[in-house]
Amino acid sequence: MARNPALTARSADKHALYQEAVQDPAVDLGFMARVYRRRFGRSALLFREDFCGTALLSSNWVRGGRERRSEGFDLDAGVLAWGREHNLAPLGEARSRIELRRADVRSAGSFRPHIRSATNFSYSVFHTRAELVGYFRAARRSLAHEGLFILDAYGGCEAFAEVKERRSIGRGVTYIWDQAKYLPGSGEYHCYIHFRFRDGSKLERAFTYIWRYWSIPELVDALRDAGFGRVDAYFEQSAKDGSGNGVFRLDPEGRTSRDCAGLIAYLVASR
Ligand SMILES: C[S@@+](CC[C@H](N)C(=O)[O-])C[C@H]1O[C@@H](n2cnc3c(N)ncnc32)[C@H](O)[C@@H]1O
Repeated sequence: MARNPALTARSADKHALYQEAVQDPAVDLGFMARVYRRRFGRSALLFREDFCGTALLSSNWVRGGRERRSEGFDLDAGVLAWGREHNLAPLGEARSRIELRRADVRSAGSFRPHIRSATNFSYSVFHTRAELVGYFRAARRSLAHEGLFILDAYGGCEAFAEVKERRSIGRGVTYIWDQAKYLPGSGEYHCYIHFRFRDGSKLERAFTYIWRYWSIPELVDALRDAGFGRVDAYFEQSAKDGSGNGVFRLDPEGRTSRDCAGLIAYLVASR
């Protein structure tokens, strides 16, 4: 039997596919740890993962050193249970240094994080500016004196076009990011993740996001209004074929990404 047989809608696990398709803990955590070290001249130890889902970042964080701790927040008991079974249980000793909480991201945590993250644009669940700024205020209040709040952001003209992106993720699976609806007056933004399989089976709307689209300048303004004294933008650089290359450069105005149809940036905010 083939070691990695092609998957079908029946045999696939949607959380495993999600992690494979849209998460890259080495890139995210590598960037965050590096920025922290450069800013404060020491290593970050305490990590808080908002909207943690399966807690893939938290799990990788605690694996990276015996003094590292992590706390993840998510409202969905099902996804947290999946993360406990598949990402936390295999950690061994490091399992004791990670706590998952079924709670709103605006809740207080048990420590003041050196790095607090919100990835894959998850703050877009906040549809009003008041809610967004309220969340950012809670994030700022929670940080250690030497702490960073780091979120990713989606920009460029393709960000709010009603388009589908298709990508093969191996084992006969195609990942589809479906930007199904964008209302230019309100910023209402409906997106889905679908998976299609080589045998013709499908997982339609495996994940649904009823979001508000927040542009990068809107996010920077909201972070400042929440009290952050410094907000730096790092834009992903492009490979020759125009796709992102995983290298992020400090670039307050996004000059290095002007030709990019769809682009990703990290916003790094500090007190
Ligand atoms: C797009 S997924 C993010 C998963 C993962 N962290 C990532 O970066 O890919 C968004 C997650 O946020 C959770 N969520 C939505 N609103 C929330 C809130 N107010 N507080 C905590 N979690 C929330 C959902 O349950 C879902 O698991």
